[in-house]
Amino acid sequence: MDLATAKHAFITGGASGIGLGVARALAECGIAVTIVDVSKDNLSAVLSESPANMGGHQLDVRDRAAWARVKVDAEAANGPVDILMNNAGISPSGFEIFEMDPAHFDQIVAINLTGVFNGISTFAADMRARGSGHIVNTASMAGISVMPHAGGYVASKFGVVGLSEAARVELEPHGVGVSTFCPGQVATSLMSNTLKLGGPPTRFSADYVMTGLSPAEAAAAVLRGIEENAPYILTDPQVWRPAIDVRIDALRKAFDDGA
Ligand SMILES: NC(=O)c1ccc[n+]([C@@H]2O[C@H](COP(=O)([O-])OP(=O)(O)OC[C@H]3O[C@@H](n4cnc5c(N)ncnc54)[C@H](O)[C@@H]3O)[C@@H](O)[C@H]2O)c1
Repeated sequence: MDLATAKHAFITGGASGIGLGVARALAECGIAVTIVDVSKDNLSAVLSESPANMGGHQLDVRDRAAWARVKVDAEAANGPVDILMNNAGISPSGFEIFEMDPAHFDQIVAINLTGVFNGISTFAADMRARGSGHIVNTASMAGISVMPHAGGYVASKFGVVGLSEAARVELEPHGVGVSTFCPGQVATSLMSNTLKLGGPPTRFSADYVMTGLSPAEAAAAVLRGIEENAPYILTDPQVWRPAIDVRIDALRKAFDDGA
């Protein structure tokens, strides 16, 4: 999508980290940006120092009735949503699958995966009817290669990749693009925000992600991906390509062995 034609972007998990980075970058392009987030405190702090073309609402991406209400309010203020970024998420826990509390598995899937479905479900029909729009769903490198001791997170992010690929196939003939964003580490407060929000306890250090890209660098990759209608937006090829190659090689070998 040509960003010059976009008027309104809607970003979940927009009060922190990657979502906030993308919100600021799109606002700088002159696009009205609605950020939504479950954290009222982060939302108020961010909005108190945001440019005039950035507004926000509290939204828990698990709450389908709230999605419908917030869509009405956001579009009444800024018109139809041209860019949707389903980005809200909580972090991996560092527990092995057998020792994971089943309630934590349910929570991570409900936020990281079903939350993305809820966003597509809320906005895709209108985009399809208008014949334009772009959706970015934040998965992770853990959605295309396995991260140890993060089974619930990996399952949720592989799910986001599958859901996004399916949405792309369905929406592309109707003029709507879908990109899957699979970043490696990005220096955000993902770990501490997850704990503050009552997410699963984690054995990963809060510093785990801090060696990664800045949110502004991640945002630049996302904006390029929207402009190019990229199916996948990836980062850090030097770090992650070997792991992805291992997976692709294993799939090829399985075909060769089975033939
Ligand atoms: N930081 C990384 O290294 C990294 C790497 C790969 C993928 N990701 C993914 O990027 C996305 C953004 O994470 P981030 O790193 O910017 O972390 P972050 O904690 O800075 O931002 C995530 C935001 O999502 C919000 N959120 C959490 N649960 C929510 C819910 N139920 N409803 C609405 N909002 C909710 C949080 O309040 C927070 O503001 C996540 O989906 C994460 O899994 C992050």
